[in-house]
Amino acid sequence: MAVLEVKDLIKDFGGLRAVSNVTFHVDEGEIMGLIGPNGSGKTTIFNCITSYFPITSGRVFFKGTNITGMKTHQICRLGIGRTFQVVRPLARMSVLDNVTASAFSRVNSIKEARSEAERVLDFCALLGEKDKLAKSLPIGGRKRLEIARALATKPRLLLLDETAAGLNPSELDEAIELIKKIRESGVSILIVEHIMKVIMSISDRIHAINFGQTIAEGKPDEVANNRAVIEAYLGEEYAQG
Ligand SMILES: Nc1ncnc2c1ncn2[C@@H]1O[C@H](COP(=O)(O)OP(=O)(O)O)[C@@H](O)[C@H]1O
Ligand SMILES: [Mg+2]
Repeated sequence: MAVLEVKDLIKDFGGLRAVSNVTFHVDEGEIMGLIGPNGSGKTTIFNCITSYFPITSGRVFFKGTNITGMKTHQICRLGIGRTFQVVRPLARMSVLDNVTASAFSRVNSIKEARSEAERVLDFCALLGEKDKLAKSLPIGGRKRLEIARALATKPRLLLLDETAAGLNPSELDEAIELIKKIRESGVSILIVEHIMKVIMSISDRIHAINFGQTIAEGKPDEVANNRAVIEAYLGEEYAQG
């Protein structure tokens, strides 16, 4: 069964059509990659799914329920978590308090929120940093903290927006392992990522867009060899190498 269905999604910003008739779905337990050049509409699609922006037209279903037009916090409660491309932790709060704040979306007591936050920090290999200020973490840690904050809302579907950007090679391997571990824990994933090593190695399927429009969808090797994708996004070097 599809955990997420996006149907004929259109999003206009004034005269600009940022997303144009995009349709795709994410199956239960699947890692679905969403790729496209800068400015092609990937983050806007995330913002439409989570009602961060009102959509112009189209429909979004979560586990068969039409969530189009619901409030962002209702969508979070139903089970869609997300990270932001530009990480924005509560900089002056500790790592633990950042995640505890997110855990309050599910529990009512500070005790429960803290213990859930510690469980999630442990899962994300951040428990050792829990008393540090969020702003003192290096970029790899801030990206993991962003994932931890999303996981503390107990999502069934996680939207990851460029969580591997800016990471060094060993941090990249850790990020790939963490994303696989999240899926193994039963969370379906829709991931936007520019780093081909990441997207190609973890996605079950990939949906490619350009200028807000779908150009290809399929298994990673099919999409990587698709002419429209190569022209729009990957560049000829990738096709040859
Ligand atoms: N809040 C906004 N207001 C106006 N235009 C926006 C807004 N957000 C995104 N856009 C425009 O929509 C297009 C898609 O942007 P975005 O979804 O951020 O692309 P991507 O994440 O694929 O790089 C771009 O042309 C961008 O300038
Ligand atoms: Mg973006």
